[in-house]
Amino acid sequence: MLTEERVRSILNKMVDPFLHKTLEETNGVLEVSVKEEKQHVSVKVAIAKTGTAEQMHLQGNIVQALKSAGAESVGLRFSDLPEEELAKHASNDSGTKQSLLSPGSKTTFVAIASGKGGVGKSTVSVNLAVALARLGKKVGIIDADIYGFSVPDMMGITKRPVVRGEMIIPVERFGVKVISMGFFVEDNAPVIWRGPMLGKMLHNFFSDVEWGDLDYLLLDLPPGTGDVALDIHTMLPACKEVIVTTPHPTAAFVAARAGAMALRTEHEILGVIENMSYFESKVTGEKEYVFGKGGGNKLADELQTELLGQLPLQQPDWNEDDFAPSIYAEDHRLGKIYLEIAEKITSLINK
Ligand SMILES: Nc1ncnc2c1ncn2[C@@H]1O[C@H](COP(=O)(O)OP(=O)(O)OP(=O)(O)O)[C@@H](O)[C@H]1O
Ligand SMILES: [Mg+2]
Repeated sequence: MLTEERVRSILNKMVDPFLHKTLEETNGVLEVSVKEEKQHVSVKVAIAKTGTAEQMHLQGNIVQALKSAGAESVGLRFSDLPEEELAKHASNDSGTKQSLLSPGSKTTFVAIASGKGGVGKSTVSVNLAVALARLGKKVGIIDADIYGFSVPDMMGITKRPVVRGEMIIPVERFGVKVISMGFFVEDNAPVIWRGPMLGKMLHNFFSDVEWGDLDYLLLDLPPGTGDVALDIHTMLPACKEVIVTTPHPTAAFVAARAGAMALRTEHEILGVIENMSYFESKVTGEKEYVFGKGGGNKLADELQTELLGQLPLQQPDWNEDDFAPSIYAEDHRLGKIYLEIAEKITSLINK
């Protein structure tokens, strides 16, 4: 004779296919009734996502289990778990899928922003990422400039990411895990998308990429204070920011807007990096302030933060065997400055 109690104990052991926890743990058994004379069992079960292939699979398992326990017929209904219940389980969902964006994530997000284009955000992003990796940190970089992606080329990446199951494995270069829209576009074709699709793609970069355990995830933002910057602000409430500017007072003035946006969205500004600060003659050692002077300090004062470093104008030394046009070697003058900036950042974040 099948009793209500027996049915509950069978159902309680079933596993929610999305949360990977028993229905007992997720409070997923909602209703059970047994018509004893006919051994007709009717149950209602809540899971994380209904209308899915996983639901069909669980349905088959439940019916089979109840029938082998003696049920003549089984009536089964599904519903979605309430938000409160889902929230309880979201942070310890198994696998890496949720871990980067979950509240318990140990990854520090650092967005590299600027007011204007062309000041060196991408150059700073890739070199800061490489410098952090040189300090032994586990580092990833998201090229969040969906239209104007440049990270793969700057780092000299020729490989494409591989897909394992439903997850994308980022490409690793100089110890940094990289993902970019550039990996998913054929032959440098333009990306023609509207705003909402940008947000979706960005979200996928977090949720569908197997980042593993990261200490730092850097985001190379597109210039200005547009859609992507806003999306990042809503997606990553705990994001830190580094603002890049050139030394010209006007550039610093425009960069201040990016800083103001960070402050308004409660993103903590780690500091300012002044790029293209001066040109130093190899012959005389004389410094020429070709783009003006003082912008970085002015901006840091205005945003009540510190100037993390000043990078002179100079190209990396190109190496034909291992070509990465924008990466400075560890012993290059700029490579050393990037290491100092990376050290400052790790001590600010204490990690
Ligand atoms: N310190 C530097 N010395 C010499 N060239 C530099 C320096 N920093 C950046 N550049 C060069 O300046 C150009 C613009 O840099 P980069 O693409 O990093 O800027 P960006 O702010 O990301 O631009 P965008 O707004 O278009 O994304 C690149 O050609 C880069 O190689
Ligand atoms: Mg850029």
